[in-house]
Amino acid sequence: MEFAGKVAVVTGAAQGIGAATARAFAREGARVVVADRDAAAGRALADELAGEDGRAIFVGADVASTDDARRIAREAVAAFGGVDALVNNAGIQTYGTVEEMAEEEWDRTLAVNLKGVFLVSKWIVPEIRRRGGGAIVNVASVQGLATQPAVAAYAASKGGVLALTRSMALDYAREKIRVNAVCPGSVDTPMLRASADLFGGEDPEGALRDWGALHAMGRIARPEEVAEMILFLAGPRASFCTGGAYLVDGGMLASFA
Ligand code: NAI
Repeated sequence: MEFAGKVAVVTGAAQGIGAATARAFAREGARVVVADRDAAAGRALADELAGEDGRAIFVGADVASTDDARRIAREAVAAFGGVDALVNNAGIQTYGTVEEMAEEEWDRTLAVNLKGVFLVSKWIVPEIRRRGGGAIVNVASVQGLATQPAVAAYAASKGGVLALTRSMALDYAREKIRVNAVCPGSVDTPMLRASADLFGGEDPEGALRDWGALHAMGRIARPEEVAEMILFLAGPRASFCTGGAYLVDGGMLASFA
């Protein structure tokens, strides 16, 4: 069990990639902090993972709020004595060109997807330092590297996450805090299914199949396939990896066509 005795904080952990990551950490022996703004689903997952000796807690938090971000760190330390790994996964998907998008929607997208990484890291980094080192994994997207029409704010936020990842990696490398990003392609989560409902009309499953065809492997990912990369980067096997952006995209960005 790679994370026995370790404490992992996962934001946006109530469902999707975050929930798969929280489950994978628990499987590997970690104590897990499930942080999410969705109290019902977050609490249910924490209860599922807690077991008899309370190995998981739920913290209700909006990562875009300074107070909430600070409370995630405080409650993690109160429950488990420190933090070894942070996964900044909480995110929202928005659509539109710069003309179409309302300023409020731009601000909210950047606040959750980019500022949220800043805020939660701000309060967790000192805790990881107190442990003598650890790791942060930021969930970006292929949209941070290449994009498609009408995802201006989302793509900008994910590009920002990649730049912030590099910056944090340099700032903390000598303190043995590694910081990396993962860039998933399309992943079968409630977020993607909401997009399929939006764009798929009568046939959301058809939209998912079409998006799958954009990946060289011909399908979308399962959340667990992204969680495996996150755990690798968060753990000791990635001991010389920092500042990187790791594709989990089924070959999507390998293609020119
Ligand atoms: P999802 O929508 O299925 O789950 C996201 C979770 O984050 C939810 O539990 C939600 O309540 C929580 N959340 C949202 N805003 C929050 C906030 N302000 N504070 C706290 N929690 C908040 O999304 P999914 O697909 O699991 O995405 C996770 C991450 O992966 C996101 O950063 C997303 O941008 C990224 N991603 C997803 C892809 C996909 O195809 N599903 C592809 C590439 C990246």
